[in-house]
Amino acid sequence: MKKILKWIAIIVGILLVVAFFAFLYFIPPFTLIPPEEFTRQTVEAAPSLDGITDPALRAVAERGKYIATVNDCSGCHTPLGDQGPKWDAYFSGGGRGTFKGYGTFNTRNLTPDPGTGLARRSDEQVQRVLRSGLLPEGRVAHYRDMPWAAYSNWTPEDRYAVLVYLRHLKPVAHRIPDDNAETATDDPTAIETLYSLDVGVWPDSGAARK
Ligand code: HEC
Repeated sequence: MKKILKWIAIIVGILLVVAFFAFLYFIPPFTLIPPEEFTRQTVEAAPSLDGITDPALRAVAERGKYIATVNDCSGCHTPLGDQGPKWDAYFSGGGRGTFKGYGTFNTRNLTPDPGTGLARRSDEQVQRVLRSGLLPEGRVAHYRDMPWAAYSNWTPEDRYAVLVYLRHLKPVAHRIPDDNAETATDDPTAIETLYSLDVGVWPDSGAARK
């Protein structure tokens, strides 16, 4: 009797192991989403730039759109709702991050809305954030919060292209709450010098807003 029980236990054990591997084999490979599927929604949410009549400016804006898309600005700057990103509020900010000892930050409205978005900023102010993290209020953005250190290696042409793209987004009125920064990293001018060996900038001629 004992022997039979022992054999039953062994067989059940083997079946459990086989069943476990069969389960692993048949579950869908949920981590293997094709890259184009992963980014499909962001790509589709990006606005058409066909309305820009000047072909040279349109080409610059298209380049900016490409750079903004592959760098996933939308991942932080498009607000999240219960159903995922609110694509109709593309790039209008509102994501929140807290860094211990530094503060709580809200991603900002990058659409050209006059009251709450980037229309309030000059061309140079926007390009400077991308070049050295220096925000218009004189504080350096936390590099993990707004990953400007990764963008400071772009060429000035690329930063300008992103600026032109941002100027052509659909304006979305979305007021972002004030930040609660406790400390500022460093002397802003030191950061500016360190990260912008090539400080080429386009003056604010208004061309990017056309
Ligand atoms: C990891 C999240 C994240 C990503 C990715 C990101 N940002 Fe930001 N961005 C932020 C946060 C947070 C702030 C506000 C920083 C602060 O208050 O310290 C910000 C601020 C800005 C500002 C300043 C806006 C103003 O009101 O002056 C600009 C411009 C900007 N981001 C552009 C971009 C662009 C362009 C990209 C993509 C190339 C991008 N960001 C990607 C999080 C992000």
